[in-house]
Amino acid sequence: MRTHYIAGNWKMNTNKADAVKLAQDLVKELKGKKNTYMIAPPFVYLDAVAQVVKGSNIILGAQDIAANDNGAHTGEVSADMLKDIGVQTIIIGHSERRHEIGESDMLINAKVLKSLSKGLDVVLCIGELLAEREAGKAEQVCAFQLDAGLSGVTKEQMSHVTIAYEPVWAIGTGKTATPADAESIHAFIRKHIAKLYDNKVAENTIIQYGGSMKAANAAELLAEKDIDGGLIGGAALKAETFVPICIL
Ligand code: PGA
Repeated sequence: MRTHYIAGNWKMNTNKADAVKLAQDLVKELKGKKNTYMIAPPFVYLDAVAQVVKGSNIILGAQDIAANDNGAHTGEVSADMLKDIGVQTIIIGHSERRHEIGESDMLINAKVLKSLSKGLDVVLCIGELLAEREAGKAEQVCAFQLDAGLSGVTKEQMSHVTIAYEPVWAIGTGKTATPADAESIHAFIRKHIAKLYDNKVAENTIIQYGGSMKAANAAELLAEKDIDGGLIGGAALKAETFVPICIL
Protein backbone atom coordinates (compact mmCIF):
# COMPACT_ATOMS: atom_id res chain seq x y z
CA MET A 1 0.00 0.00 0.00
CA ARG A 2 1.50 3.30 -1.09
CA THR A 3 0.90 6.30 1.18
CA HIS A 4 -0.10 9.52 -0.55
CA TYR A 5 2.87 11.84 -0.88
CA ILE A 6 1.87 15.49 -1.17
CA ALA A 7 4.64 17.97 -1.97
CA GLY A 8 4.61 21.75 -2.25
CA ASN A 9 7.02 23.25 -4.74
CA TRP A 10 7.17 26.92 -3.80
CA LYS A 11 9.26 27.77 -6.88
CA MET A 12 10.59 31.38 -6.88
CA ASN A 13 7.93 32.69 -4.50
CA THR A 14 7.54 34.06 -0.96
CA ASN A 15 9.82 36.28 1.07
CA LYS A 16 11.52 35.17 4.26
CA ALA A 17 8.69 36.17 6.61
CA ASP A 18 6.02 34.58 4.41
CA ALA A 19 8.06 31.41 3.99
CA VAL A 20 8.48 31.01 7.75
CA LYS A 21 4.79 31.78 8.39
CA LEU A 22 3.61 29.31 5.75
CA ALA A 23 5.86 26.60 7.18
CA GLN A 24 4.60 27.36 10.71
CA ASP A 25 0.98 27.10 9.58
CA LEU A 26 1.65 23.80 7.82
CA VAL A 27 3.44 22.30 10.81
CA LYS A 28 0.44 23.16 12.97
CA GLU A 29 -2.23 22.00 10.55
CA LEU A 30 -0.56 18.80 9.37
CA LYS A 31 0.44 17.61 12.84
CA GLY A 32 -0.69 14.01 13.28
CA LYS A 33 -1.97 13.74 9.70
CA LYS A 34 -1.09 10.51 8.04
CA ASN A 35 0.10 11.18 4.50
CA THR A 36 3.69 12.01 3.56
CA TYR A 37 4.36 15.75 3.22
CA MET A 38 7.20 17.74 1.73
CA ILE A 39 7.79 21.43 1.08
CA ALA A 40 10.48 22.87 -1.16
CA PRO A 41 11.10 26.58 -0.42
CA PRO A 42 13.57 28.70 -2.40
CA PHE A 43 17.22 28.00 -1.52
CA VAL A 44 17.69 31.25 0.41
CA TYR A 45 14.87 30.44 2.82
CA LEU A 46 15.69 26.76 3.34
CA ASP A 47 17.65 27.36 6.52
CA ALA A 48 14.91 29.47 8.10
CA VAL A 49 12.22 26.95 7.12
CA ALA A 50 14.42 24.07 8.35
CA GLN A 51 14.23 25.52 11.89
CA VAL A 52 10.44 25.52 11.65
CA VAL A 53 9.87 22.01 10.26
CA LYS A 54 12.52 20.32 12.42
CA GLY A 55 10.90 17.49 14.39
CA SER A 56 7.62 17.76 12.45
CA ASN A 57 6.11 15.35 9.94
CA ILE A 58 7.06 17.64 7.05
CA ILE A 59 10.05 16.71 4.90
CA LEU A 60 12.27 19.57 3.78
CA GLY A 61 13.01 19.57 0.07
CA ALA A 62 15.15 21.68 -2.25
CA GLN A 63 14.13 22.63 -5.77
CA ASP A 64 17.46 21.73 -7.35
CA ILE A 65 20.98 20.60 -6.54
CA ALA A 66 24.43 20.81 -8.08
CA ALA A 67 25.70 17.74 -9.88
CA ASN A 68 29.17 18.54 -8.52
CA ASP A 69 30.71 18.40 -5.08
CA ASN A 70 31.89 21.54 -3.25
CA GLY A 71 34.40 23.54 -5.22
CA ALA A 72 34.67 26.18 -7.92
CA HIS A 73 31.09 26.13 -9.23
CA THR A 74 29.75 29.68 -9.04
CA GLY A 75 26.11 29.96 -8.09
CA GLU A 76 25.65 26.26 -7.37
CA VAL A 77 24.42 24.61 -4.17
CA SER A 78 25.88 21.24 -3.24
CA ALA A 79 24.45 18.10 -1.67
CA ASP A 80 26.69 18.57 1.37
CA MET A 81 25.41 22.12 1.89
CA LEU A 82 21.80 21.04 1.61
CA LYS A 83 22.28 18.11 3.97
CA ASP A 84 24.10 20.39 6.39
CA ILE A 85 20.96 22.47 6.92
CA GLY A 86 18.53 19.56 7.11
CA VAL A 87 17.31 19.07 3.53
CA GLN A 88 16.22 15.49 2.94
CA THR A 89 14.93 15.39 -0.61
CA ILE A 90 15.57 17.12 -3.94
CA ILE A 91 13.24 17.95 -6.81
CA ILE A 92 15.21 17.20 -9.97
CA GLY A 93 14.39 17.78 -13.62
CA HIS A 94 11.42 20.07 -13.12
CA SER A 95 10.11 21.17 -16.50
CA GLU A 96 10.90 24.79 -15.68
CA ARG A 97 14.54 23.79 -15.39
CA ARG A 98 14.43 21.52 -18.42
CA HIS A 99 12.76 24.08 -20.67
CA GLU A 100 13.62 27.54 -19.23
CA ILE A 101 17.20 26.80 -18.18
CA GLY A 102 17.90 24.08 -20.72
CA GLU A 103 18.87 21.28 -18.35
CA SER A 104 19.66 18.13 -20.27
CA ASP A 105 18.68 14.60 -19.37
CA MET A 106 22.36 13.89 -18.85
CA LEU A 107 22.71 16.68 -16.28
CA ILE A 108 19.47 15.62 -14.61
CA ASN A 109 20.80 12.07 -14.34
CA ALA A 110 24.06 13.35 -12.82
CA LYS A 111 22.04 15.26 -10.20
CA VAL A 112 19.94 12.17 -9.43
CA LEU A 113 23.05 10.03 -8.96
CA LYS A 114 24.80 12.68 -6.86
CA SER A 115 21.78 13.10 -4.56
CA LEU A 116 21.32 9.38 -4.03
CA SER A 117 25.01 8.79 -3.44
CA LYS A 118 24.90 11.48 -0.72
CA GLY A 119 21.89 9.91 1.00
CA LEU A 120 19.34 12.42 -0.26
CA ASP A 121 15.97 11.34 -1.66
CA VAL A 122 14.89 12.41 -5.11
CA VAL A 123 11.69 13.53 -6.80
CA LEU A 124 12.42 13.07 -10.49
CA CYS A 125 10.08 15.12 -12.68
CA ILE A 126 9.12 13.97 -16.14
CA GLY A 127 6.44 15.00 -18.59
CA GLU A 128 5.66 15.89 -22.16
CA LEU A 129 5.13 19.25 -23.89
CA LEU A 130 1.77 20.04 -25.50
CA ALA A 131 3.15 19.48 -29.01
CA GLU A 132 4.50 16.10 -27.95
CA ARG A 133 1.14 15.10 -26.49
CA GLU A 134 -0.66 16.24 -29.63
CA ALA A 135 1.77 14.20 -31.72
CA GLY A 136 0.86 11.12 -29.66
CA LYS A 137 4.32 11.00 -28.09
CA ALA A 138 3.52 11.42 -24.38
CA GLU A 139 4.50 7.85 -23.45
CA GLN A 140 7.61 7.92 -25.60
CA VAL A 141 8.81 11.15 -23.97
CA CYS A 142 8.16 9.84 -20.46
CA ALA A 143 9.93 6.56 -21.23
CA PHE A 144 12.95 8.42 -22.57
CA GLN A 145 13.10 10.75 -19.55
CA LEU A 146 12.82 7.77 -17.19
CA ASP A 147 15.52 5.80 -18.99
CA ALA A 148 17.86 8.78 -19.00
CA GLY A 149 17.06 10.13 -15.54
CA LEU A 150 17.33 6.75 -13.82
CA SER A 151 20.39 5.54 -15.71
CA GLY A 152 22.74 3.92 -13.18
CA VAL A 153 20.20 4.05 -10.33
CA THR A 154 20.14 0.66 -8.61
CA LYS A 155 17.10 -1.33 -7.57
CA GLU A 156 17.98 -0.65 -3.92
CA GLN A 157 18.25 3.10 -4.55
CA MET A 158 14.77 3.16 -6.10
CA SER A 159 13.23 3.17 -2.60
CA HIS A 160 14.60 6.74 -2.38
CA VAL A 161 13.15 7.86 -5.70
CA THR A 162 9.72 9.36 -6.32
CA ILE A 163 8.56 10.08 -9.85
CA ALA A 164 6.49 13.20 -10.55
CA TYR A 165 4.53 13.08 -13.79
CA GLU A 166 3.93 16.68 -14.81
CA PRO A 167 2.51 17.24 -18.28
CA VAL A 168 4.15 20.55 -19.12
CA TRP A 169 0.98 21.95 -20.68
CA ALA A 170 -0.81 21.57 -17.33
CA ILE A 171 1.75 23.39 -15.17
CA GLY A 172 0.56 26.75 -13.91
CA THR A 173 -1.95 26.96 -16.74
CA GLY A 174 -5.08 25.93 -14.88
CA LYS A 175 -5.41 23.03 -17.33
CA THR A 176 -5.35 19.70 -15.55
CA ALA A 177 -5.04 16.36 -17.27
CA THR A 178 -8.30 14.48 -16.78
CA PRO A 179 -7.98 11.79 -14.12
CA ALA A 180 -8.28 9.15 -16.84
CA ASP A 181 -5.58 10.76 -19.02
CA ALA A 182 -3.25 11.15 -16.05
CA GLU A 183 -3.94 7.60 -14.85
CA SER A 184 -3.12 6.19 -18.26
CA ILE A 185 0.35 7.77 -18.20
CA HIS A 186 0.89 6.89 -14.55
CA ALA A 187 0.09 3.24 -15.29
CA PHE A 188 2.48 3.40 -18.25
CA ILE A 189 5.22 4.85 -16.02
CA ARG A 190 4.72 2.08 -13.46
CA LYS A 191 4.93 -0.55 -16.18
CA HIS A 192 8.09 1.06 -17.52
CA ILE A 193 9.67 1.03 -14.06
CA ALA A 194 8.81 -2.69 -13.84
CA LYS A 195 10.62 -3.17 -17.13
CA LEU A 196 13.68 -1.23 -15.89
CA TYR A 197 13.69 -2.95 -12.47
CA ASP A 198 10.96 -5.41 -11.44
CA ASN A 199 7.33 -5.51 -10.36
CA LYS A 200 8.12 -5.05 -6.71
CA VAL A 201 10.06 -1.84 -7.34
CA ALA A 202 7.28 -0.62 -9.63
CA GLU A 203 4.57 -1.37 -7.08
CA ASN A 204 6.48 0.43 -4.33
CA THR A 205 7.38 3.54 -6.34
CA ILE A 206 5.36 6.65 -5.54
CA ILE A 207 4.23 8.43 -8.70
CA GLN A 208 2.98 11.97 -8.06
CA TYR A 209 0.89 13.98 -10.46
CA GLY A 210 1.70 17.66 -10.98
CA GLY A 211 0.05 20.36 -13.05
CA SER A 212 -2.64 22.69 -11.68
CA MET A 213 -3.56 20.27 -8.90
CA LYS A 214 -5.83 21.93 -6.37
CA ALA A 215 -8.43 21.02 -3.76
CA ALA A 216 -11.17 21.02 -6.42
CA ASN A 217 -9.55 18.32 -8.56
CA ALA A 218 -7.15 16.52 -6.21
CA ALA A 219 -9.61 13.98 -4.82
CA GLU A 220 -10.53 12.55 -8.20
CA LEU A 221 -6.92 12.48 -9.36
CA LEU A 222 -5.77 10.78 -6.16
CA ALA A 223 -8.59 8.25 -6.44
CA GLU A 224 -6.89 6.77 -9.50
CA LYS A 225 -4.99 3.57 -8.83
CA ASP A 226 -1.56 4.74 -9.98
CA ILE A 227 -1.70 8.37 -8.80
CA ASP A 228 0.00 8.33 -5.42
CA GLY A 229 0.32 11.99 -4.59
CA GLY A 230 0.86 15.44 -5.96
CA LEU A 231 3.65 17.88 -6.70
CA ILE A 232 1.85 21.15 -6.24
CA GLY A 233 2.94 24.64 -7.25
CA GLY A 234 0.37 27.44 -7.11
CA ALA A 235 -1.93 25.79 -4.59
CA ALA A 236 1.00 25.09 -2.25
CA LEU A 237 1.63 28.78 -1.57
CA LYS A 238 -1.13 29.16 1.01
CA ALA A 239 -1.99 26.86 3.88
CA GLU A 240 -5.69 27.20 3.10
CA THR A 241 -5.26 25.86 -0.43
CA PHE A 242 -2.55 23.27 0.34
CA VAL A 243 -3.84 21.67 3.54
CA PRO A 244 -7.15 20.46 2.05
CA ILE A 245 -5.16 18.45 -0.50
CA CYS A 246 -2.82 17.14 2.17
CA ILE A 247 -5.56 15.75 4.35
CA LEU A 248 -7.53 13.96 1.62
P1 PGA B 1 1.24 24.12 -10.57
O1 PGA B 1 2.77 23.64 -10.59
O2 PGA B 1 0.57 23.32 -9.48
O3 PGA B 1 1.29 25.58 -10.29
O4 PGA B 1 0.68 23.78 -11.93
C1 PGA B 1 3.13 22.30 -10.42
C2 PGA B 1 4.62 22.13 -10.53
O5 PGA B 1 5.20 22.70 -11.45
O6 PGA B 1 5.27 21.43 -9.72
